[in-house]
Amino acid sequence: MNNLEKENFLILGAGNMGICFVKALIQNRIKANRIKIIEKNPSLELMALKRKKKIEVFKDTKKVSTNINPSIVLLAVKPNQLSQALSSEFLKITKNSLIISIIAGKSLKELKKVTKNNNCVRAMTNTPASVGMGTSLVFYDRNTRQKNKRLSKNFLSLIGQVNETKSEKQMDIFTAIFGGGPAYIYLFIDVLTQISKKAKFKNSKNMVIQTFLGSLLLLLSEKEDPVNLKKKVTSKGGTTESALSILENNKGLNNLMQKALIKAEQRAKELNKI
Ligand SMILES: NC(=O)c1ccc[n+]([C@@H]2O[C@H](COP(=O)([O-])OP(=O)(O)OC[C@H]3O[C@@H](n4cnc5c(N)ncnc54)[C@H](OP(=O)(O)O)[C@@H]3O)[C@@H](O)[C@H]2O)c1
Repeated sequence: MNNLEKENFLILGAGNMGICFVKALIQNRIKANRIKIIEKNPSLELMALKRKKKIEVFKDTKKVSTNINPSIVLLAVKPNQLSQALSSEFLKITKNSLIISIIAGKSLKELKKVTKNNNCVRAMTNTPASVGMGTSLVFYDRNTRQKNKRLSKNFLSLIGQVNETKSEKQMDIFTAIFGGGPAYIYLFIDVLTQISKKAKFKNSKNMVIQTFLGSLLLLLSEKEDPVNLKKKVTSKGGTTESALSILENNKGLNNLMQKALIKAEQRAKELNKI
């Protein structure tokens, strides 16, 4: 039960991320006439959804019907596309809405200013949202009403797990670790696949994916710390210990990851200023 059945939704930007929310709303039995989308460049997937579910899609924020009265608005355009999207028509129809932004680098203060709406919340998520397994972080300021906290958490949990932060500064490091997280994991999968292919295994990619999936399921089922599970694989004087002695030598992998994430966090800070 998500308590969202009586809300009306407006999604601004149904690209990679916005469409995850559209699909999640439909899967959670929100009626199609409660979902409106503004998307200037609809993908084939969005067009198919529009046809099949009869969801209204507007091409431009200036062309939205004035009577749609959304209670929840998702901002999911690219950071540099926001100011152009905030037409006077859009500001008018969203003046009483709860506005949830997943736009990287737009501070809550700035969001309130540009949307001329104090009922804004700022969130960040990642691409596993498309399979309902996103990891999200949400930030409220002290003026956020309880009702809006509840609504935004319910909305974000449609696409996965929701965590709250009391410090907006954490958004940048969240973006570095968890926003980019899927890419680091895919990199690791790709590296292992390449090495496995070199060793002439025919089913390399599937074997690597199965190893990841199996390890994660084991981690969840055993409810054990990953460090303990790592120990269980590592017998004294064995092969895994030899490999780990390279990866962990002088905290090698740890330091490399730290370095990479510091750079990503710095980049997030730079992008905030653009
Ligand atoms: N991708 C991620 O991993 C991720 C994770 C968390 C948060 N985010 C944030 O989510 C936001 C969206 O990212 P995304 O990857 O989904 O971007 P995206 O695929 O480019 O989606 C944005 C969509 O909005 C459309 N659009 C832009 N301006 C518009 C306007 N004025 N009216 C109507 N539609 C408009 C774009 O059309 P065009 O194609 O014509 O530009 C595009 O289809 C970004 O701010 C990003 O920071 C992304």
